[in-house]
Amino acid sequence: MFQAAVLTVSDRGYRGERPDASGPLVCACLEEAGYPVVKTAIVPDDQPQIEAALRELADTGEVQLLITTGGTGFSPRDVTPEATLAVCRRMAPGIPEAMRYASSRVTPRAMLSRAQAGIRGGTLIVNLPGSPKAARENLEAVLPTLRHGLEMLSGGPADCAGTDSPKNGDLTF
Ligand code: MTE
Repeated sequence: MFQAAVLTVSDRGYRGERPDASGPLVCACLEEAGYPVVKTAIVPDDQPQIEAALRELADTGEVQLLITTGGTGFSPRDVTPEATLAVCRRMAPGIPEAMRYASSRVTPRAMLSRAQAGIRGGTLIVNLPGSPKAARENLEAVLPTLRHGLEMLSGGPADCAGTDSPKNGDLTF
């Protein structure tokens, strides 16, 4: 079984000026999808603190999926993507591409999320935007597909061409 952690990145949430609605919502989505959330944390929009939290959560070896929420936009203090790039050795650009593609059917502002996804050791890190609505919409777009990636990451047998391989539409190659 894969275990998850959720990191909320928010200045106001960290200072207690606004309740963290997105973190608990992301936790609920993950639990419902079969990922026990074994760690949560909240940090301000400060790159060194975000990087430290990502390293700490990933390097325990307890979590295979680490989701962040917040700090992916254009505000000067939105630096979650930069922190994620700094701690990952291999990036997984298809995940945020799929999130933005799916989200662009909901709002053209989807393009304003600079979310990244990448791999640190045995942990997949995925950024989500900060609002509860955006966090849920982005997570739901990719969550069903992440398990196959986590199986590969953990060294399990991954049959990419198997008969249970999900298909989109009727494309044949
Ligand atoms: N994606 C979806 N699915 N739904 C949304 O409402 N909001 C967008 C975008 N992605 C949104 C979305 C907006 S308005 C912004 S500014 C960016 O996510 C970044 O959000 P963040 O700064 O809270 O991380």
